[in-house]
Amino acid sequence: MRVGIIGTGKMGRALASAWSSAGHVPVLGSRDPARAGEIVASRGRAIEVRSIADAVRSCDVIALATPWHGTRAILEAGSPLAGKVVIDATNPPYPTVATDKDTGPACGAGQIARWAAGSRVVKALNAVAARIVGARQRQFDGSRVTVPYCGDDREAKATVADLIAAIDFDPYDAGPLEAARHLESLARAMVGMDVAAGRGNDIGFSLLRRPSERP
Ligand SMILES: NC(=O)c1ccc[n+]([C@@H]2O[C@H](COP(=O)([O-])OP(=O)(O)OC[C@H]3O[C@@H](n4cnc5c(N)ncnc54)[C@H](OP(=O)(O)O)[C@@H]3O)[C@@H](O)[C@H]2O)c1
Repeated sequence: MRVGIIGTGKMGRALASAWSSAGHVPVLGSRDPARAGEIVASRGRAIEVRSIADAVRSCDVIALATPWHGTRAILEAGSPLAGKVVIDATNPPYPTVATDKDTGPACGAGQIARWAAGSRVVKALNAVAARIVGARQRQFDGSRVTVPYCGDDREAKATVADLIAAIDFDPYDAGPLEAARHLESLARAMVGMDVAAGRGNDIGFSLLRRPSERP
């Protein structure tokens, strides 16, 4: 599957490398494809780097790996996202996003669904470190890292679950898009615990549940 990835930083490049190794065709979308293409090539990766508009146009699934402060401008720049599956891997700085019904959605993913009107947003991959995504060995002592995802479109969620499983993570359906606030809190908790213990972005979490619930 061709997967567009917007943002060519740590997370974007790690996702591109992982999906490429899994047999998918990542297309990185950059504000400056010539510069980003040189960086990607210098690391020995044969991965397409295009303009953001081209990456969006050529892929039905688009992963957002942009800093929160730059995400709105990209989504509102005019690339048509209607009908596409948008994987929101971003993390808004708390409490950027409004938390009551009158002022707006209670999570970054809800805000992204507003900005990318008509797209099918699935929150995912925001709480796993780029270092682990980009590693050759993603398991810890034989256990897969759990990657929760949530969204309101069943088919879009199934597509994202397959992309998560393809790179050897354990997909966990966390419910509707409004559950993204929990996934965004989880990312903050993971970063906090990582920094406090000096683990260097090399921790992942594994969610235990009854075997019948595993996909
Ligand atoms: N790093 C992690 O371990 C990790 C894990 C999970 C989730 N995330 C989330 O993924 C997102 C990206 O994180 P990252 O660590 O990959 O960040 P990063 O290394 O700083 O890269 C972000 C990329 O986004 C693009 N971008 C678009 N608009 C931008 C703007 N206004 N300012 C700066 N860059 C802009 C840039 O690519 P171009 O210049 O090519 O356009 C840049 O390389 C964040 O929302 C973060 O919370 C990160």
